Amino acid sequence: MSYFSPILILMLVVPMMGAVSKGDGDFAPAEDIGLWTAGTDGEEGQEGDEHDELDSLPIWGSERVGRIPVNVDSFGAVGDGVADDTQAFLAAWETACSIKNAVFLVPERRHYKVNATRLRGPCEGKLLIQVSGTIVAPDEPKDWDPKNPRQWLSFSKLNGVRIQGGGIIDGSGSKWWASSCKINMTNPCRGAPTALTIDSSSGVRVKDLTIQNAQQMHFTISRSDAIRVSGLRVRAPSDSPNTDGIHISESTNVAIQNCHIGTGDDCISIVNASSIIKMKNIVCGPGHGISIGSLGKDNTTAMVTAIVLDTAILTGTTNGLRIKTWQGGSGYVKSVRFENVKMDDVQNPIIIDQFYCDSPTSCKNQTSAVKISQVLYRNISGTSRTPNAMKFACSDTVPCSNIVLNNINLERENGIVETFCNCATGFDYGFVRPAADCLRNDKTSRCDGTKNDNQSQTYDPIHTEL
Ligand SMILES: *[C@@H]1O[C@H](CO)[C@@H](O)[C@H](O)[C@H]1NC(C)=O
Ligand SMILES: *[C@@H]1O[C@H](CO)[C@@H](O)[C@H](O)[C@H]1NC(C)=O
Ligand SMILES: *[C@@H]1O[C@H](CO)[C@@H](O)[C@H](O)[C@H]1NC(C)=O
Ligand SMILES: *[C@@H]1O[C@H](CO)[C@@H](O)[C@H](O)[C@H]1NC(C)=O
Ligand SMILES: *[C@@H]1O[C@H](CO)[C@@H](O)[C@H](O)[C@H]1NC(C)=O
Ligand SMILES: *[C@@H]1O[C@H](CO)[C@@H](O)[C@H](O)[C@H]1NC(C)=O
Ligand SMILES: *[C@@H]1O[C@H](CO)[C@@H](O)[C@H](O)[C@H]1NC(C)=O
Repeated sequence: MSYFSPILILMLVVPMMGAVSKGDGDFAPAEDIGLWTAGTDGEEGQEGDEHDELDSLPIWGSERVGRIPVNVDSFGAVGDGVADDTQAFLAAWETACSIKNAVFLVPERRHYKVNATRLRGPCEGKLLIQVSGTIVAPDEPKDWDPKNPRQWLSFSKLNGVRIQGGGIIDGSGSKWWASSCKINMTNPCRGAPTALTIDSSSGVRVKDLTIQNAQQMHFTISRSDAIRVSGLRVRAPSDSPNTDGIHISESTNVAIQNCHIGTGDDCISIVNASSIIKMKNIVCGPGHGISIGSLGKDNTTAMVTAIVLDTAILTGTTNGLRIKTWQGGSGYVKSVRFENVKMDDVQNPIIIDQFYCDSPTSCKNQTSAVKISQVLYRNISGTSRTPNAMKFACSDTVPCSNIVLNNINLERENGIVETFCNCATGFDYGFVRPAADCLRNDKTSRCDGTKNDNQSQTYDPIHTEL
């Protein structure tokens, strides 16, 4: 089906690469733009295409006969929100994972308290994980299992599994947030658990779940291929630290659709070694927006390609569409399309920040950077809270190239909006407000990669986000 089809996505992205690589400041030929725009039409509403084996599974309810329920209650889970149900979950998992057509069942109207738990595959065929009740984490960081400092519920090595059921996964994160160094500088800076992880898996479908109040990130997809997420709700307070909604790392062919995310950090963040990531119908806010990055921290190499966001509403977020990289990194971000996005009172609606510095100490200017190119923003409208509605703050030595803007209308209630460029080139066509002439003009000689290394100093802390 199209959401997973690498060929389809490459068809969308490759014409874009072709169109833009000629460009470098010039208009792409009309037919190239036509190809490029054609991309959105063919891929609508293909949910449930027969090529997806998972989709051919009958839905829960109409298939009880053929399925074998493995209810956590049968393994001694109490579900009163107080008793420790970890062992019951582990025992139920062992059984469910080892038989065909099992349903690992977390019944509704109950609260199961479960410690850090690793649920490993591979499992026998067509496992369904039906979470209809609530799973809650113990809330005391001091008592957390030291063997799993960064994970709460972690699934790995799953193949062709569905996770669904309308239930709630609740990280009980408030004490973790209070002990974060971002909330209280006297606390040591250490990571907290991710509520739900899917790692080293393929063909997993996550549907109709709520993840809330995670200790740190809500949902991480790592080292995986062909993952589909739909109807996910994420909720956490706007001041909860580092509570990203969905975090994608080292994964390919990921589709995220019809998700409603309000949190204290990025609604969605896509990092290192991820490609062919498609996001559609996303509601984001509060939060820090939809981000590629951060990338390149501690001089690391990152590669992110073929990212599409189509249709999103961002409300009251600190950023809208963001690409953030640390100085000193290497690698690239290439072939990105953001389209049909509505912004409402967003601080930085469109932003590329190659000086990202999320650190208590300031970051040095360095010559190496993660290269950013072939980024298309199309049909983006709404309101900006700050004058810099569009900001392309790119590295002097590794400038951004082929930044393309089409049909942009960003306004501010009481004042002007403008576009900031540092070492960014590209072009705009159609209606574009604020004007982005700086993309055509910003080709000054200092952005050619020859800047003297020995001028590097500490960068202006304006870019610091704590
Ligand atoms: C779960 O954590 C609690 C402390 O919160 C601990 O007492 C208990 O032994 C843990 N259970 C398991 C199965 O590890
Ligand atoms: C920060 O943490 C310290 C040490 O735990 C504590 O004494 C102090 O009251 C906290 N400050 C705030 C503002 O919560
Ligand atoms: C980036 O991804 C590659 C490929 O999966 C991996 O080998 C590398 O360790 C990752 N780098 C970082 C900084 O995570
Ligand atoms: C990154 O590279 C720069 C320049 O070579 C060096 O000064 C810095 O110490 C490196 N940082 C890390 C974390 O390795
Ligand atoms: C532009 O995006 C909005 C959503 O913000 C959508 O309603 C509208 O249909 C899009 N326009 C076109 C021409 O695709
Ligand atoms: C350092 O800067 C000085 C003065 O601008 C210049 O003469 C020199 O060539 C630079 N050194 C290097 C290694 O770029
Ligand atoms: C670091 O680079 C940025 C972008 O070129 C520049 O605005 C800033 O002044 C530089 N900082 C220092 C201290 O040289």
